[in-house]
Amino acid sequence: MKRNLKVGVVGATGMVGQTFMNILEERKFPMAELRPFASDASAGKKIHVQGQDWTVQTLKPGCFDGLDLVFFSSGDDISKEWAPLAAKAGAFAIDNSAAFRMDPSIHLVVPEVNGHLVNSQSKPQVIANPNCSTIQLVVALKPLADKFGLEEVRVSSYQAVSGAGIAGYDELLAQTADYKNPEPENATFPHPILFNCIPQIGSFNDEGFCSEEVKIMKETRKILGLSDLKVSAFTVRIPALNAHSESVWVTLKQKTERAQIVESLKSFNGIVFQDEPQKSVYPTPRNVSGEDPVYVGRLHRDPENPYLWLMWVVSDNIRKGAALNGIQIAEHIFDIKPQA
Ligand SMILES: NC(=O)c1ccc[n+]([C@@H]2O[C@H](COP(=O)([O-])OP(=O)(O)OC[C@H]3O[C@@H](n4cnc5c(N)ncnc54)[C@H](OP(=O)(O)O)[C@@H]3O)[C@@H](O)[C@H]2O)c1
Repeated sequence: MKRNLKVGVVGATGMVGQTFMNILEERKFPMAELRPFASDASAGKKIHVQGQDWTVQTLKPGCFDGLDLVFFSSGDDISKEWAPLAAKAGAFAIDNSAAFRMDPSIHLVVPEVNGHLVNSQSKPQVIANPNCSTIQLVVALKPLADKFGLEEVRVSSYQAVSGAGIAGYDELLAQTADYKNPEPENATFPHPILFNCIPQIGSFNDEGFCSEEVKIMKETRKILGLSDLKVSAFTVRIPALNAHSESVWVTLKQKTERAQIVESLKSFNGIVFQDEPQKSVYPTPRNVSGEDPVYVGRLHRDPENPYLWLMWVVSDNIRKGAALNGIQIAEHIFDIKPQA
């Protein structure tokens, strides 16, 4: 068991990077050193974490020397180039980008779901953190997969602007401040996001799926270890600031009762079941933003098919969907108990 780790964060000034800082602080992550990295524009800035100021650096040869752990949240190209160098320098490189997720030689990890893939005996390596929408989906599906078996999953997402980084967040705030403008400027999203829903996250393939949908479909199979699972996804950007929501249709292999599903969800580490629809009690992105768990509600059976269940899954895409999951992977590897 190793204590007081030397930790790097690449993309430390970004949406996910800033949340890394908050969570390292909140969970009293045992650190001897923090080395924040960002672009030239941020070099020299100070980041205050755990009572000390740490100076933002740029990436350069040898910059990971002596580190035990490096979190990456700067996009695919930077991760592709630098994460293997961090592992080569002897650090665990926990990568939030999509660069390595579907590489068969790289583990794609959500600790509550497939944490057994890495442990305190693992050697420094690149470990991929899944897509934010995938993480909350697989956490909600895992207890159902274990107890009842999964036949098919269909999901439609309602994704917050924070999923597009600081630029996406700022674009919604700017459009809100200027809400009477009939033609607001949009640079991050393909259309104005205010008072709108945009059925496109990423670029489209020849079959009509956008890249976010393909990520959810492929990553879900890999994480659950169910290569034949039927998964279909439809992703939509909405003008919520933070926390992604998903309506999920899951067909189970066994016929079961609602109470059994409720019990399996409630007893699963990392899930909060919030379901009193008559009182309008169910998770919403406003309430879930800033929280760690995956929230599940609106659980009900399809009237035509007794194997088919519907549920509503909401989680903070920057916390469980990115930074928190990465830190939980590190806690799992280094056998650290969070002291929140
Ligand atoms: N937002 C989410 O919900 C979410 C969820 C899961 C995964 N992710 C992934 O996490 C990554 C970051 O997302 P984000 O939302 O945090 O983006 P963001 O807010 O745009 O932040 C990007 C970060 O990368 C840094 N950066 C840019 N160029 C760099 C360079 N040449 N060298 C070092 N650092 C550089 C930026 O530094 P400056 O401030 O100096 O420009 C900033 O710290 C992406 O791969 C994204 O797909 C995001």
